[in-house]
Amino acid sequence: MSAEVCCPPLPGSARDWWQTAVVYQVYVRSFADSDGDGIGDLDGVRARLPYLRSLGVDALWLNPFYPSPQHDHGYDVSDYRGVHPEYGTLESFDRLIRDAHRLDLKVLVDVVPNHCSIEHPWFRAALAAGPGSPERAHFHFADGRGEYGELPPNNWRSIFGGSAWQRASDTQWFLHTFAAEQPDFNWRHPDVSSYFEEVLRFWLDRGVDGLRIDVAHGLHKADGLPDHEHAEHDELTGDPINPHAWNQPEVHGVWRSWRAIAEEYSRRTGRDRVLVGEVGLLDTDQLAQYQRPDELHQTFFFEFLRAEWDDQALHDVIDRGLGTIAGSGSSVAWVLNNHDMPRSVTRYAGGAPGAGPGDLHLGLARARAAALLMLALPGSSYLYQGEELGLPEVTDLPEHLLTDPMFHRSGGVRRGRDGCRVPLPWTAAHDSFGFSPDGTRGTTWLPQPDWFAEHAADLLLGSGDSMLHLYREALALRHRIPALAFGDFRWLPTEPGVLAFTRGDGLACAVNCSSRPVCNPVEGVVLIASDTEAGEKLPANSAVWTLLPDGT
Ligand code: GLC
Repeated sequence: MSAEVCCPPLPGSARDWWQTAVVYQVYVRSFADSDGDGIGDLDGVRARLPYLRSLGVDALWLNPFYPSPQHDHGYDVSDYRGVHPEYGTLESFDRLIRDAHRLDLKVLVDVVPNHCSIEHPWFRAALAAGPGSPERAHFHFADGRGEYGELPPNNWRSIFGGSAWQRASDTQWFLHTFAAEQPDFNWRHPDVSSYFEEVLRFWLDRGVDGLRIDVAHGLHKADGLPDHEHAEHDELTGDPINPHAWNQPEVHGVWRSWRAIAEEYSRRTGRDRVLVGEVGLLDTDQLAQYQRPDELHQTFFFEFLRAEWDDQALHDVIDRGLGTIAGSGSSVAWVLNNHDMPRSVTRYAGGAPGAGPGDLHLGLARARAAALLMLALPGSSYLYQGEELGLPEVTDLPEHLLTDPMFHRSGGVRRGRDGCRVPLPWTAAHDSFGFSPDGTRGTTWLPQPDWFAEHAADLLLGSGDSMLHLYREALALRHRIPALAFGDFRWLPTEPGVLAFTRGDGLACAVNCSSRPVCNPVEGVVLIASDTEAGEKLPANSAVWTLLPDGT
């Protein structure tokens, strides 16, 4: 691989905390249960803040905890300004954010503007008011096709499978790009944007440091809701590329006005507030448009998560991230795991939900190396709970327990995302592995397999070469070595199968993606290694950070 300079140092604005932060994603339902009902909650998160502090992350992002009938575990919101009783109260939220700030941890919440729940008061009113009413104009209601209106108004598919239309109890249908319990708002209606600006202010006033924005390339739909011309879909699979349903130019106006609000709060309070978008576009240039200087601060860079464990593939993806995304003037938000994707240990092992775990020894080695790779790259990183425990996907949950609407809407063809959402193991020797308090009912909402014991946080803390120690040490080094945040990035020449780059003058990261040992292309003092054998040689599927001879 040739030596080349890929990206210039980040500008002075890089000192904004979010540009280089490591953010930990808390899937509240599965993180920690304080009251023994087998479901995680906000007080459970609060009790574990010291764990997150000692892990060394800078911020946490909470998945939706708002009132919701839980058809998509909180991504079907019925009240954007409250807390679902299973998760606590607004007071528990206030206590959580107060304690997090005391520990110098920032807090991001998740906002879901594309759709709400069928139980949201606006949607209930729309159903009750009937065709042609102003209440229906907040959503996409349309008459059906066919002699009796018995066919959906167009051919769009839901992301979770099946038609994107559900018939109301009268002549009309309503649009849902996700589950039928998640009606899409009509963002061309001015009430919708004013409503969400109030929601944004509500959480900013409560002190949040930022918001993660769900499906931020959704919101507007093409005028007239035309058929998707190339809709050769399978009945069961979703349609993430329908050009009429996604990425409409008008959506950028929303992000400009939200950015102005975030900036207003940052200025007024002297604390930077950040907007991070989930933008599911495959085109990197299009993605970069969402994080122009007056739009979202960042968007998740999912290409990294989707890349094969292959030096060339990773090299290309990193170049695209640093060139195109960082070229937007912001920084890249790297991701290896989240609540929607099979866990990296299993992905790198060749396993899949429903198809078995794969070679977990291999998967873990690669996931450890990938973590060091990600944490050495310029920009910020988003970790998903359990990633630091080396948790593989639970690939064999019994079908009758699967809750993901993707599983049900696809008639079981797609197993869905439950396998990365199983409640965390905290202690090896307790019931529910310490997820629920001892002596409580403690049946976790998804069952934990016995082998979760091997990944319990307390066990891993006691073992110096565990995944948890790897993350803790890498994050501590990120705090200690400014080059990891601000040093410029430069690829080094390497033999095939290997990636190596420097950050500033002092530090290098080398990754052996191949299945044979190679010579470490970098000389110096090894600071941290994903494999205890790494040194002058890099074992197969390993990574090291090396302090260069003239580094500090
Ligand atoms: C986003 C969320 C996902 C959810 C979907 C619908 O992709 O990450 O979990 O199901 O939006 O809200």
